[in-house]
Amino acid sequence: MIAVIIPAAGSGSRLGGLPKQLRHLGNAPLLLQTALVFDRHPDISCFVVVGPPDALDTVKEILIPLDKPYQVVPGGATRQDSVRAGLDVLDESIEVVLIHDAARPFISGEVITDVIDSTKAYGAAAAALPITDTVRYGKDGCFTTTISRENLYAMQTPQGFRHEILRKAFRQAEDVSKSTDDVELVYPIGQTVQIVHGERTNIKITTQSDWDWASKVWKKEGE
Ligand code: C5P
Repeated sequence: MIAVIIPAAGSGSRLGGLPKQLRHLGNAPLLLQTALVFDRHPDISCFVVVGPPDALDTVKEILIPLDKPYQVVPGGATRQDSVRAGLDVLDESIEVVLIHDAARPFISGEVITDVIDSTKAYGAAAAALPITDTVRYGKDGCFTTTISRENLYAMQTPQGFRHEILRKAFRQAEDVSKSTDDVELVYPIGQTVQIVHGERTNIKITTQSDWDWASKVWKKEGE
């Protein structure tokens, strides 16, 4: 059995206003649009959605159209606290756990399948894209050191883990609050993570211009 944890408890402070995951993208809230891709995927059995503690009723209402079973739990102060809250309520019968940001509604069924297959085979896998731009530090309005982009990846989600591996990683992690994704948490227990080729369109809607782009593309694709 495969479960998806969707961390959706961010305040969306970089966008302002109502948390973006609760806003409409096309004909439904962003959170539902993202969850629906997993709902349609034949290998996914159930969801845990981690919502803003003060909006759990709204989140439950938003998810009513899902066909598969779901639980809604309150999130924490950081993304990793929220993922832990989701992990805490997962049934022991779950073999593989996928974690996917609510803010990535353009995820495709193909990438979900690739992450599942690779996780089953190797224990952990994550979608990512090789960096193609030149990467450079900047300070006080000016560029400074250039970083070689060779072997550098921009991480995406879903990130997949065998259930017992993820539990062990969270049990042993000293401080999860600094990690901005889950891959980092499994290194200390000696687990390698396979690279799955992600997609350029699988962006994390973060800024107003991301939102504007996403709304345009969503409309074009006919919802
Ligand atoms: O903050 P960031 O952009 O990395 O958030 C990625 C995902 O994690 C979003 O879907 C956001 O709602 C979620 N998140 C969360 N709990 C937090 C912070 C972020 O569930 N405390």
